[in-house]
Amino acid sequence: MNTDDVRSIPVDELTVDEADRELEALAREIKDHDERYYQQDAPSVTDAEYDALRQRNEAIEKRFPLSVRPDSPTHRVGAAPASGFGKIRHAKPMLSLGNVFDEEELREFIDGIRRFLKELSDNPDIPLEMVAEPKIDGLSISLRYEGGKLVQAATRGDGKVGEDVTANVRHVGDIPESLPEGVPDVLEVRGEIYMSKQDFFRLNEHQEAEGEKVFANPRNAAAGSLRQLDASITKERPLSFFAYAYGEVSDVTWNSHGAFIALLKDWGFSVNPFTRVCNGVEEIMAQYDTIQEHRAELDYDIDGVVYKVDRLDWQVRLGFVSRAPRWAVAHKFPAEKAVTILRDIDIQVGRTGVLTPVARLEPVTVGGVVVSNATLHNADYIRDLDIRIGDHVRIQRAGDVIPQVLEVVDDGGHGEREAYAFPENCPVCGSHAVREDGEAATRCTGGLVCPAQAHERLRHFVSRNAFDIEGLGGKHVVTFFDDGLIKTPGDIFRLSPEMLEGREGWKEKSIQNLMDAIGAKRAIDIPRFVYALGIPQVGQATARLLAKQYGSMPALRQAMEGARVIGSEQLEDLLSIDGIGASMAKDLVEFFAEPHNNDVLDDLLDNVRVEDFAAPDTGNSPVAGKTVVFTGTLETMSRNEAKAKAESLGAKVSGSVSKKTDYVVVGPGAGSKEKKARELGLHVLSEQDWLDLTML
Ligand code: IVH
Repeated sequence: MNTDDVRSIPVDELTVDEADRELEALAREIKDHDERYYQQDAPSVTDAEYDALRQRNEAIEKRFPLSVRPDSPTHRVGAAPASGFGKIRHAKPMLSLGNVFDEEELREFIDGIRRFLKELSDNPDIPLEMVAEPKIDGLSISLRYEGGKLVQAATRGDGKVGEDVTANVRHVGDIPESLPEGVPDVLEVRGEIYMSKQDFFRLNEHQEAEGEKVFANPRNAAAGSLRQLDASITKERPLSFFAYAYGEVSDVTWNSHGAFIALLKDWGFSVNPFTRVCNGVEEIMAQYDTIQEHRAELDYDIDGVVYKVDRLDWQVRLGFVSRAPRWAVAHKFPAEKAVTILRDIDIQVGRTGVLTPVARLEPVTVGGVVVSNATLHNADYIRDLDIRIGDHVRIQRAGDVIPQVLEVVDDGGHGEREAYAFPENCPVCGSHAVREDGEAATRCTGGLVCPAQAHERLRHFVSRNAFDIEGLGGKHVVTFFDDGLIKTPGDIFRLSPEMLEGREGWKEKSIQNLMDAIGAKRAIDIPRFVYALGIPQVGQATARLLAKQYGSMPALRQAMEGARVIGSEQLEDLLSIDGIGASMAKDLVEFFAEPHNNDVLDDLLDNVRVEDFAAPDTGNSPVAGKTVVFTGTLETMSRNEAKAKAESLGAKVSGSVSKKTDYVVVGPGAGSKEKKARELGLHVLSEQDWLDLTML
């Protein structure tokens, strides 16, 4: 039966299978009509015919709510994104940078590179040139040129998907619309959009005079000015741009970062004048000092210096760890400090029940930002530093991290003021607060009854690196929780327009937008999903490791169940993951053993589809999915480079030999691992065999 036949059946008489099939067809058809109507201005059906399709779709969805598709037309209005900016998937991810804070950490970073590139550790005389350039405090942007014309601009977003700000960047002074002849056909130029200090002060004066929002610092002003849905507002705002990197390029004609910077200049981009090629830590530090000396007089904010390996072939070999290149690092300027008065101490309860003392401060400006709260870490910290309410304290703020109280500067003899008594009960739910032996943290034992923990779990669930539901911020989920609309994450997917109607701040349009945004997250990738669960100690990097290792949610859950047994193969597998230690493994196993967590998870999985781990495209790599162990000394590459290369080809690298190992690569000096491999009858390869196998 084709869908036209199905369509003649009254909705009341459809079977689930028929409904599924028809909803799929309707989604496709309505999308086509939308595109013809909204994007091509060329509809092929009458309005009445179109309305009839939508009505039928809605009627079927109403009768079969479990069949509602992630791409349902009811989640979408028109063909343009229903709200906000369109999304753009970056052809190459936009990365972040690791940090060093002093010369010693810089030396470690450079030594790490020299060790990774074996010929450099074998020959200390081979120079490793690094380009040093200021780290601009603005927002990063990727500009795509095709045939020399600017066709697309996207913000960094989460590094994989950013926002389409093409219309806006056309108003940024230093961004050329077209490039000279001879540039690569596809060229993504990346860099930083910023607002000069002078322009920032002028803008704020104007905003104040007009009774409009004033910005806290040039960075916020730049971000607020670029991310305007109405690009004509961006036009009124003075923005500038420095280019310093590239994404997708059809033909890379340069062989060093320095050469690329010179080309950028030829093509008409602004590049930072403090960019220098340096050889060795002394030269790098000298350039750092020069940049720091000029910092105050520059007309734009910088927050450090970035160092990048100059040679491109080495950059390629070094590759990436999680989201940061191994070939570049940011050297941050020291944190800024200030002295103020501690007015009060409040306790915040986190999603895992940890009680964190927060200092309420007399507001003070630190590095251009007004600070009125800072962390006091834990009970010992307050006791050891004898911090009392009313003291003058020194606080520090560095980059995006939470400001912290460093020390008491003047306690005025403390007078009558008493030492701070850390609470013995959770200030939110009243449950006992306990501190386990050897732990710094005090925890609320209220678990499920503690609303603070529930609040924080829900906040985490919808946060930017987790479900990131547009229009549903932490504040909303907390109010929805307090009003009984949602209790667990799964409830978010059962919100309906009726439940929100009449609530303050929610109008028909914003409700519809929210429904669309929730609908869009009914399918999610597994690393995000695992991260969103809020398992203690499991951050984004660990979530990714787990996703990569186990591939799917059913496999992960099954493995965690098996890992409850001490000595089990599943527990050994878990512990053999590089980056997962005993304490994290314990938290993971406990999380998946807790019946309530499983109930929440089952419910959630009824409502969202978790996509299995998409292994990076490893082409027809002969070692994809294979487990490899390296042992002994390798001749042509360092152990780290061998590991990174194997992983980039889709192999898993393990530290121990078992019957699940596919290849054991042995070099001189291999011992017990080689012996075990031979006993188990595994494939034992020499380094050359391995190179032959992987360099086909
Ligand atoms: S290079 C693969 N160079 O810093 C390297 N980044 O913390 C990618 N940034 O997201 C970045 N000035 O927004 C690079 N001269 C510079 C930079 C710079 C500022 C920002 C950029 C990036 C962030 C990483």
